[in-house]
Amino acid sequence: MRVFIVGIAGGVGRRVATRLATHGDQVGGLVRRSAQAADLAARGINATLGDLVTLSPEELAEMIRGYDAIVFTAGAGGEGGPETIDQIDGAGPGKLSKAAGIAGITRMVLVSVFPEAWRERRMDEEFEHYMVAKKQAEVELVLTDRDWVIVRPSALNDAPGTGLVDLGLAKVHEEITRDDVAATVVEVLRQPDVNRIILEVTAGPTPIAEAVSAMAGTGRP
Ligand SMILES: NC(=O)c1ccc[n+]([C@@H]2O[C@H](COP(=O)([O-])OP(=O)(O)OC[C@H]3O[C@@H](n4cnc5c(N)ncnc54)[C@H](OP(=O)(O)O)[C@@H]3O)[C@@H](O)[C@H]2O)c1
Repeated sequence: MRVFIVGIAGGVGRRVATRLATHGDQVGGLVRRSAQAADLAARGINATLGDLVTLSPEELAEMIRGYDAIVFTAGAGGEGGPETIDQIDGAGPGKLSKAAGIAGITRMVLVSVFPEAWRERRMDEEFEHYMVAKKQAEVELVLTDRDWVIVRPSALNDAPGTGLVDLGLAKVHEEITRDDVAATVVEVLRQPDVNRIILEVTAGPTPIAEAVSAMAGTGRP
């Protein structure tokens, strides 16, 4: 499988790339700094330099042409304020989806968020803005004819992966490791019968491959 990842140098993106490359899949991705490209190249991953904000859908299409699937796991990461959130978390997935349409790629996995994440806390205005932007990106993607899957992880941590999750159409927001989110994304990529569906995922008791395959055929055909 050939997979292109936007957000490949990030916490989840790096782990998705490593898992795929380790299993012999061909991996590419978008990075903003040449040091990141060199680091990925050393691991057999073909990173392309560019900035999602300034690339046009047509330019992005040329970068992803030839890949079987694309993953969006980029995020403003609390830097740059509302405008950057709008450009990355809000408009980024739509731009990538448009590029995929131009390049003839159907499969797209979007890493999003639980809409009710941290409702029990008093979060600041920027966090609320981020949540709205993430939802807008989901709305835009589900209206496309891409063969999309949206994965909503609960709060991310860097603890070692467990290989186990609690995954389904609606889950209670808790925490999950980036390792387990990456493994879930890879499993979704490997199971094309899981499509046009929003999956919420948090830490849990079920082996990841089993949890993902249980969702096969439940999305809109
Ligand atoms: N943190 C949480 O608890 C949480 C919970 C649920 C969902 N999420 C979502 O899960 C996803 C993955 O999270 P993560 O922790 O892996 O994120 P991360 O480590 O912050 O990685 C995000 C990546 O996006 C890249 N990026 C940002 N702006 C870009 C641009 N203009 N052009 C190209 N690349 C750009 C960054 O590139 P640089 O390396 O150049 O900065 C970075 O590598 C994100 O979409 C996040 O919103 C997070």
